[in-house]
Amino acid sequence: MKDRRIQDIRIDYAKASLSEHEVHADPMAQFNRWFDEVLNAEALEPNAMTLSTATPDGRPSGRIVLLKGVDHGFLFYTNYLSRKGQELATNPFAALTFFWPELERQVRIEGQMEKLTDSESDTYFNSRPLASKIGAHASPQSQRVAKKEIVQNIAEQLIKRIGGLHVPRPGHWGGFRLLPTHLEFWQGRPSRLHDRIGYDKLPNNEWERYRLAP
Ligand SMILES: Cc1cc2nc3c(=O)[nH]c(=O)nc-3n(C[C@H](O)[C@H](O)[C@H](O)COP(=O)(O)O)c2cc1C
Repeated sequence: MKDRRIQDIRIDYAKASLSEHEVHADPMAQFNRWFDEVLNAEALEPNAMTLSTATPDGRPSGRIVLLKGVDHGFLFYTNYLSRKGQELATNPFAALTFFWPELERQVRIEGQMEKLTDSESDTYFNSRPLASKIGAHASPQSQRVAKKEIVQNIAEQLIKRIGGLHVPRPGHWGGFRLLPTHLEFWQGRPSRLHDRIGYDKLPNNEWERYRLAP
């Protein structure tokens, strides 16, 4: 295994296929169907997704975040002052990418991000374990810190100060909703002839769907 060369790593995909006739007309329904299937497959962290953002002059950055809900958009939570938070504040265009190897599937989603309302963010924040709530207060996410003890000490002091009291959501922490205008469902196929079905949101809010070359 140790001698395996990167360029020799390859898998032939054969688990399933995808056709423009079998997918839902509504891509959100199609996403929910695939999400149910990946939950049933007991995949590891199926709600982990790559969030891509960019500066106003188009310099991209990516990182993993956890999907925490789906309604007419895709919800996740973070620190609004983090690098991603600052990029989204100046350029709301973003992309989400899921890879579910257990099902040989990828989903790509693009659109604009909006902040959740205070009450939506409060509801989720209040459902989090105490340690996560403290962490949201203690960590100046994405800022340089001289040593890890600094953040740990802030967290310990907060725990002492707060005791068993209610921990309110810090104003710099909350949710975003990506409102999709483009989605693509990718199913791995043998010989790299993968199935790709794309959806574009039209000005009348209907979805156009089409096949893409692999
Ligand atoms: C599996 C996994 C899940 C993560 N989930 C989140 C999340 O939901 N929210 C978040 O802010 N960071 C999450 N992170 C950490 C981010 O990847 C990232 O390190 C952090 O948000 C800072 O990113 P930024 O400096 O680009 O803003 C997660 C990381 C991993 C590996």
